This record gives sequence, structure tokens and C-alpha cells, in this order.
Amino acid sequence: MDQAEFVVVANRLPVDRIIEPDGSSHWRTSPGGLVAALEPVMQAVDGAWVGWPGQADVALDPFVADDIRLIPVTLSEQEVAEYYEGFSNDTIWPLYHDVISPPQFHREWWDAFTTVNRRFAEAAAAAVVPNGTVWVHDYQLQLVPQMLRELRLDVTIGYFHHIPFPADGLYAQLPWRKQVLQGLLGADVLGFQRPTDATNFLNAVRRRLRYEVKSSTVSVPADEETGVPAHAAVARAFPISIDTEPYRTLADDPAIQARAAEIRQSLGDPTTILLGVDRLDYTKGIRHRLKAYGELLDQQRIEGEEVTLIQVASPSRERVDAYVHLRDEIELTVSRINGDHDTVSHSAIRYLHQGFPREEMAALYLAADVMLVTSLRDGMNLVAKEYIATRRDSTGVLVLSEFTGAADELKQALLVNPHDIEGLKDTMVQAIEMPRAEQTKRMRALRKRVFEHDVQAWSHAFMTALAAARENQ
Ligand code: G6P
Repeated sequence: MDQAEFVVVANRLPVDRIIEPDGSSHWRTSPGGLVAALEPVMQAVDGAWVGWPGQADVALDPFVADDIRLIPVTLSEQEVAEYYEGFSNDTIWPLYHDVISPPQFHREWWDAFTTVNRRFAEAAAAAVVPNGTVWVHDYQLQLVPQMLRELRLDVTIGYFHHIPFPADGLYAQLPWRKQVLQGLLGADVLGFQRPTDATNFLNAVRRRLRYEVKSSTVSVPADEETGVPAHAAVARAFPISIDTEPYRTLADDPAIQARAAEIRQSLGDPTTILLGVDRLDYTKGIRHRLKAYGELLDQQRIEGEEVTLIQVASPSRERVDAYVHLRDEIELTVSRINGDHDTVSHSAIRYLHQGFPREEMAALYLAADVMLVTSLRDGMNLVAKEYIATRRDSTGVLVLSEFTGAADELKQALLVNPHDIEGLKDTMVQAIEMPRAEQTKRMRALRKRVFEHDVQAWSHAFMTALAAARENQ
């Protein structure tokens, strides 16, 4: 495959290789907000995407899918366990999400993280033309910017961090806190979701590396060992968004509207449908949401037969202990609530441990009167924006945790602190009872925001900053 002007590097490719029990294999869209946001950006440019195909020991030649050139990186079984499940998702993920689950620190995991980051950096270096641009994504690849700079001084390097960056009090726990900051500072521009994330990062750089920081620019000194000259790295917020048009189109599609009506019917035509859509992850506050909902039913503040909660919990990181325990807990709670409140013809919670195609998601968003986003910590939360983009008649209520990046932008949502169960219950009742006129007033403002700040605007802002950085270097 020819080298590309523009290369994206992310842990996952936009498609996952799925191997069926009979040995046959096919491709499926990868989970999570990162792929949802980046795929449309990449479809619009002639670039290449370096990433892992989602299965251990799969060695594939580069190929094209959905008009994007894909360059697969192979991970061994042990690397999946130590780099992906271990350091990425059992060290960095919990640490950066306010230690909701205790992070594990293991030196072998760090070694695997370093080895795999180097492999991604080498793949990116081989894929990009002279003086081209590489955009590195997310916490799994925090060492890639510096490693790539050492390999290719001619290349402009961007990095976007899709998850929160923690305050120094938490970040300081990381035994490799200096190395990770140095890894990130190989980039010319570092993007974060919220201004607070960028500030936390810059504070960590000041405190841990003692580099000079002026406003949002870090002066990274020359490295005598590797011969990499000094450069400036800019760190600031670029809140990510969604590709709004597919949701608008699906919402206008009579077949999707019919499907939404069918979903309501199949639930026994309740007055109110509440909806939660999350990867099954402890950061999403699913337990808090279920607790509040169960208490509202127990106390008869909401009428069992008139309300249904649909909870889509898509499988995620299923071999990591914290996720195994979370699933057990959620499923126990769901069946307790259903056992107490179901009737033969009506279910309190329709729990779906599956991922769904976008068409079905759009029908669910159309059917839902109230959307519940109760994350305890969330970089952005794109599900909130997908719900808004789908609400074509400007009805519906978004209940949104203050601890999401989206809360910075979506001020007309009903903002909640999910730790405050009484407050969450009151807000859920307020959402269920909200008069239509108020729903419309809020949803119109939310739709304006989301349609104006879509994913194209996000990538354009980042690429403009990267071009400016290149000029300045
Ligand atoms: C979040 C992360 C992504 C990640 C996605 C899915 O959105 O920011 O980097 O890809 O979750 O998680 P997974 O571990 O399945 O890739």
C-alpha cells in the first residue's frame, strides 16, 4: 500500500474481526465513541488508519473497508492481556476516571505497554509520506507521539485524548508518570475534551517535569540521547462530537419511525419510556441509575405499569475482573427489580446485553421519552448527543450527569449528580413529568448546539490548530 499524507493511529481499527464458533469470520463496527467519531472524518479524506483488529494473533495485510485504508497491527495473546486488558484498561482507565475502581500497577504490564506502543509508532512511521501528518488517539497509545517523533522528525504529530485527564493528586499515583507525560509531549498539538483536562495535563507537566509552560504551550527541551531537537507542544480543549447527518436522516425515515412505534407497542405501550445506552462499564453509573429507578418504583413515586426502562448495556472488556463483577452486580439488580415489579404483561426493565446497529439505536432514541446518562466520570459521552440529534420533533428530555464532558456544552439538559440518589430520583420524576412546551424549549437549544458543533467542526478545529503548530515550529 502507498504511503498516506494523513494517518490516524488508534488502538482499534474501525472494524473488528469476529470469529464465529464454526471458524468463519466477518467484520463488525468496533465499539465505543472513538470509532463512531473518527470513522466519518476518515471517510472524507484520503488517509490510512493504523490499529488492532480486535483479536489476538491475527496477522493481516493492509486492506480497504468502507473507503478507508486500514493497516492492521498484530497483538499476541499475552499482549492483549498485558497491554490492552492490563495497563490500558486496568491501570490507566480506572486511574484517569477518578479511581472509581482501584487501578492495578504491574511492571510487566508497563513493559508490554511500551513494546506495543513502539509497534504502533513503527507502523505509523512506515505508513506516512515525507512531511505528512499523523494523528494519534487515546490513552492506549500515550507513548506513541514521542516514539514517532524519534523515528520521523519530518512528520507533524497530533494527539487526541478521548477520556478525562485526572488532577495531579490522582495522576501522581502512576509509577511511570514522567514517562507518560514525555510520551505525550512528542506531539505538536494535544487535544483534550474539556478545558479542565488540558489544565490538569499542563499542571502535571509543570509539576512532574518542570518544563516551561506559558498559557497552553509547553517548551519541550531537546533530548541529547535521541537527538530530537526542542519543540513547542500546545495542549487545549477540543470537545468531540458526532456525525449528526446520519441521525437526522434515520429519524426522518418512515421505516425507523415505524420501528420506534413497534418498540413502544412491544413494551405494552407504557406512558413513559426511559432509556440508558452504555458500554457495560463502571464509569457509566448504571448501578446508581438502577438504584434510583428501583426506589421510585418501591415508593410508588412512579407507576409500574406506566413506565419502562430500556437499558442497553453493550459487552465490554469482558475478561477484566472489574467488568466481570460489574456485570454480575447489574444483572442481579435488574432481576431483583423486575422480580418485584413485573407483571405477566409488563416489564419494569428491558435489559439488553448486546450492541445494536445504528438503525435500531435511532429507533430506540425516537421511542425514548427520557434519556438517562448518569456517568460517574465520562470524557464526553456521545450517546447524549446521538439522542439529541435524533429528536426530530424537539420533544424528549435528557438527564445528564455533571461529570461528563458533554455537561460543559449541553446546559439545557437536566443536570444531575448521580451520587446523590435522592436528587437523581427527583430529576427523573421531573423529566417524566416535564410539560411538552418546556421539553421543546430545551431540546431546540440542545439541537442547535449539537448540529453546529458536529464531528466535522471538531476535526476541522483540531486540524487547523495542527497546521498552525506546523507553521510555528
Ligand atoms: C472508549 C475509549 C476508546 C475505546 C472505546 C471502546 O470510548 O475512549 O478508546 O476504543 O471506549 O472500548 P474498547 O476497550 O472496546 O476499545
